Amino acid sequence: MHPQHSYRHRILALPGSLRRVSYNRKLLEACVDCAPSDLRIELFDDLAEVPMFNEDLESDKPLHTGVDRLLEAVAGVDGLLIATPEYNQSIPGVLKNAIDWLSRPLPEELLIGKPMAILGVSSGRWGTRLAQAALRQTLTATEAQVMPAPMLFVRDAERMFEDDGTLHDAATQASLHAFLLAFSNWVERVGSQRAAIAA
Ligand SMILES: Cc1cc2nc3c(=O)[nH]c(=O)nc-3n(C[C@H](O)[C@H](O)[C@H](O)COP(=O)(O)O)c2cc1C
Repeated sequence: MHPQHSYRHRILALPGSLRRVSYNRKLLEACVDCAPSDLRIELFDDLAEVPMFNEDLESDKPLHTGVDRLLEAVAGVDGLLIATPEYNQSIPGVLKNAIDWLSRPLPEELLIGKPMAILGVSSGRWGTRLAQAALRQTLTATEAQVMPAPMLFVRDAERMFEDDGTLHDAATQASLHAFLLAFSNWVERVGSQRAAIAA
């Protein structure tokens, strides 16, 4: 049974693609639409404004506004959902760049202990398997708490969405729903553990 909570967990959904009609953004928009009642999912679509990471920029006061916006958005939520495309068997540079910024102590290491889940869609047969594996490895270094299962690899992207961008494949919708229910439980579980440690 899905637990009932007295408040909703705020989740930031981060698409790893800047493409105007990105399938990964569409997948996250589907997450916003079919989120379980205790998750409030908001899309973060400003990765294009985040400069390439450079340690020299870390001492800028204030930080670049694109970086500030990203850090603020992540600091204000209870969990992160990342949908990654697969570029050359790994994650796009824009996503790695964002994670590098988020991994720094500015003003604190925001990803430590943060509940996360990763998913992805590609037009190919493997549905971002290698990209997700690479993302999982990178996130290990940040000490984020990445949901181990279920995993969601969506393939055949062209068949999945309507012209208006909505997800229409019934099997994928069901998988997405199960994935988000599991994530809701994961956010609750990791959040409770963090609260117990802090007490
Ligand atoms: C530079 C580049 C490299 C790619 N490499 C892979 C790959 O290694 N494996 C794969 O399945 N798809 C690969 N693709 C196809 C992408 O997965 C596909 O374009 C996907 O739709 C991109 O995600 P988006 O729709 O969210 O922008 C590549 C695409 C680009 C532009």
